[in-house]
Amino acid sequence: MQGRTKLNVNDILSKKGKERISVLTAYDYSTARICDSTGIDILLVGDSAGMVVLGYASTMPVSMQEMMIFCGAVARGTKRAMIVGDMPFGSYQVCPSAAVENAIQLIKAGCDAVKLEGSSEIIDAIKAIVDAGIPVMGHIGLRPQTSSLWEGYKLQGRTKEGAIKLIEDAIVLEKAGVFSIVLEMVASEVVDTITKSVSIPTIGIGSGPSCDGQVLVLHDMLGIYQDIRPRFVKRYAELNKTIFEAVSSYNRDIKAGTFPEESNTFHMEAKELDKWKNERKA
Ligand code: KIV
Repeated sequence: MQGRTKLNVNDILSKKGKERISVLTAYDYSTARICDSTGIDILLVGDSAGMVVLGYASTMPVSMQEMMIFCGAVARGTKRAMIVGDMPFGSYQVCPSAAVENAIQLIKAGCDAVKLEGSSEIIDAIKAIVDAGIPVMGHIGLRPQTSSLWEGYKLQGRTKEGAIKLIEDAIVLEKAGVFSIVLEMVASEVVDTITKSVSIPTIGIGSGPSCDGQVLVLHDMLGIYQDIRPRFVKRYAELNKTIFEAVSSYNRDIKAGTFPEESNTFHMEAKELDKWKNERKA
């Protein structure tokens, strides 16, 4: 299509086996604009926003209203990347029709697809969303929304039974019509088998190099989020230090009266200033 810049499901599917898919989370307009201009393939408006932006202890409390604000902001800053919006906990478990309604809300906010955590236990919701014409990204392995209620943040696929279950989960998701699957903290041997067993792209986080693509949380890879530092994260910057130094200088400048400088200051028109001064003298 002439003039089309936005990546769609077919573009992502066609990369499998040819080109690795780059995915990064984004939550606001300004960073989405920067990330999009780098040529990243997918911007994931993850419910990790609940932790790294809103300061919740987990992703569990994140609401639809909060997700819609983040999704709208990212959509306004994005021209090329596909935008995937995370469906927050509680927005897809109750019944398939509520899941479709909530998925529609995220699409109306500007997303091109939605992501849900789970497999066979939520398959009716996934099928209903796909039937409504909305592309779905699956998410198996570690499921941050509910993992703290079970065994916590642990590697998935550690045992033979665990590995077999994950492979089955991935196949169930593919059959339900998802266009890609996030594999979070899955043992790399299992990831390799899953990636070879499905025809849709797998996107890994903490799951080694065998996936068709990789995703990281923006605030982790930029070194902004300090509360948790998973071993699988590569820090591409230490922005916490950069921000700390910049804000400390700003604070010092204000106290010392060295900011604002002349270049940051606006003045009245000279003629008007004279008139005003003369009137005040009179
Ligand atoms: O919420 C999120 O950022 C995610 C990624 C960790 C895949 O789901």
